[in-house]
Amino acid sequence: MLTVTEAAMRSFATASDPRMGEVMALLVKHLHAFVAESKLTKEEWMRGLTFLTAAADITTEERNEFSLLSDVLGISSMVDVVSQPVGGTSSSVLGPFHNHDSQLQPNGVDLTKGQAGERTWLHGRVVDKNGKPVANAELDFWQNADNGLYPAQDSEQDPHNLRCKIHCEADGSFELLTIRPHPYTVPTDGPVGAMLAAAKRSIWRPAHYHVIVSAPGYVGLVTELFPAGSAYIDNDTVFGVREGLIVDFKPCQNAEVAKRYNLQEPFNEVQFEFCLVKN
Ligand SMILES: [Fe+2]
Repeated sequence: MLTVTEAAMRSFATASDPRMGEVMALLVKHLHAFVAESKLTKEEWMRGLTFLTAAADITTEERNEFSLLSDVLGISSMVDVVSQPVGGTSSSVLGPFHNHDSQLQPNGVDLTKGQAGERTWLHGRVVDKNGKPVANAELDFWQNADNGLYPAQDSEQDPHNLRCKIHCEADGSFELLTIRPHPYTVPTDGPVGAMLAAAKRSIWRPAHYHVIVSAPGYVGLVTELFPAGSAYIDNDTVFGVREGLIVDFKPCQNAEVAKRYNLQEPFNEVQFEFCLVKN
């Protein structure tokens, strides 16, 4: 006779989508192993189901507690790690604040528009694995404001504040003027927040820029750039930091750039090369 695990795994063999059958059988295999290894009690399992029910109850169109759960368990980052093509820039978590309707701006756009924050000249190139420029790649960029909030969390901000799309030049180069980002906490008013509190875990993410880089013929890259020395960089509650994504904010004296953006020197300079991998 089959064991419970063998029978439950085999029950997915009839799936019309073979990949769905494979994934579900493996999920059952590892969940059963978890129950066996932890000697999970009935009471603990009921607490788990109550937790998932509370996550469903608080989930809306704008706020998904299951995405947050995936993030704080490190699963989002693991999916990034195993699905990442070899040789390109490391990917990192998308996070909950990406908007699909960011406006296309000219390369070199000034996103600061008089708001508070350390002026930061972000520039670099998009290249392939051989270092050749990827002409006209698109960068979709977003970050939080000097108060640590994204526009979705702050009705005082323009909904398009500190976010844009730009297209690189033919030589792969790009630049924009923005501000230094800030650390922020994940939402703590739901069951995931209660779990983090019970575990005495940090609720903080280190400061970061979000960038999605895409170009026809290349695998899209969803990533983040983290200022070196940012608080919480060694203790990101969603495990998004990769060594190659930590960038220096260097004091810069460049009269041409200062004049173009009407900046006082020194301002921050961040330089980064995004490497895309062909499909
Ligand atoms: Fe973020």
